[in-house]
Amino acid sequence: MSSDKSMFESGWMPPVQQQAPPGQQKGKLDPQPAIEHVPDGKGGSKLYQAAGKLKGKKALITGGDSGIGQSTATLFAMEGADVFITHLPEEEKDAEETKRLVEKYGGKCYTLAVDLREAKNCRKAVEEAMSKMGAINILFNNHAYQMMVEEIHDLSEEQWIKTFDTNIHPFFYLSKYALEHMHAGDAIINDASINAYIGRPDLLDYTCTKGAIVSLTRGLANQFAAKGIRVNQVAPGPVWTPLVAATMNEDAIKQFSTPMGRPAQPSEIATCVVFLASTDSSMLTGQTIHCNGGSFVTS
Ligand SMILES: NC(=O)c1ccc[n+]([C@@H]2O[C@H](COP(=O)([O-])OP(=O)(O)OC[C@H]3O[C@@H](n4cnc5c(N)ncnc54)[C@H](O)[C@@H]3O)[C@@H](O)[C@H]2O)c1
Repeated sequence: MSSDKSMFESGWMPPVQQQAPPGQQKGKLDPQPAIEHVPDGKGGSKLYQAAGKLKGKKALITGGDSGIGQSTATLFAMEGADVFITHLPEEEKDAEETKRLVEKYGGKCYTLAVDLREAKNCRKAVEEAMSKMGAINILFNNHAYQMMVEEIHDLSEEQWIKTFDTNIHPFFYLSKYALEHMHAGDAIINDASINAYIGRPDLLDYTCTKGAIVSLTRGLANQFAAKGIRVNQVAPGPVWTPLVAATMNEDAIKQFSTPMGRPAQPSEIATCVVFLASTDSSMLTGQTIHCNGGSFVTS
C-alpha cells in the first residue's frame, strides 16, 4: 500500500515492490521519485530554485539515467551546466527522460550507453564527453551495483568481483582520465554511502567498495588540493531510487527509512552535489556530506 503522506513528510514509506536489476524508473518505480522538486519545509514540495551556480560548466555524470544521477543532471542544468551522462544499455528510456529534463531547463544533454566495468569504456566516456562538450569541469562518479546477501557464506566470489569492478575501479579510471583535462576550479564528487560508516552486514561487498570510495576521495583530495581541484563526496542514507526496488528484499524495503521517518528523495542528495560542485563549497576538499536523515556516524 502506498502511503497517503507527501514523500517529504515524516511517515512516508514507498510501497513494497521488486524489479529486475539494474532497475527502471520511468513508468516503473511507484511512486516516481522527486527529481526536480525539493521540500518546501511544510511537508510539501516546490520546484528547485536555481541561482546560476554552475553557469557554463560541463559535467560528466555516471548513472545519470535515474535516481540521484538524474536529479543531479537536472539540477545542474537548472544551475546553467551542460551534462554528459552514462547509463547501461537497458536504461535507454530513463536516459531519454534525463535528456528531456535537462533540455527543459536549457541545458545540453549527451548520453552514452556503456558498461563502465572496463577501463577502455571509462576512457571512451571521458573522450566522448570531451569531444561533445569541450571540457569536463565536474565529474560526478555516481553509478553503482549492489545486491543483498545476508551472510558471507552465500556471497559468491563472482558477486564480490562484480561489485568491485563496478563500484570502485571505474571511479579510479574515470578520475584518472578526466583529471587529464581538469583545471583549477574544477571538482570531482563521488557517491559513497552511509553503509561505509555503519558496516551494513547484508551488503558486505557493496559496503566495502563504498569504504574504498571514502579513501579514494581523501587521497585524491590531498593530491589535488594545492592545484585547486577539489574532491568531495556525498554519503547518502536510504534514497528512493530504482536501485532499491531492484536489489533489496521485501523486509528491507519495509524498513527503508531514516531518523526523519522517511527515506530521502533523489533531489535531496542532488542539492548536496550542486553545493559540492559549485564555489559555495570552495573551502571543502576531501570531505563528506552525510545526507542521511539524521544518522550520526563517525567519519
Ligand atoms: N538509493 C539509495 O538508498 C542509496 C544510498 C546510498 C548511496 N547510494 C548511491 O547512489 C548512487 C546512485 O544510485 P541510485 O540510488 O540513484 O540508483 P539508480 O539505480 O538510479 O542508479 C544506479 C546507476 O548505476 C548504473 N550502473 C550500474 N552498473 C553499471 C555498470 N556496470 N556500468 C555503468 N553504469 C552502471 C546504472 O546506470 C544505474 O542507473 C550509487 O552510487 C549508490 O550506491 C544510493
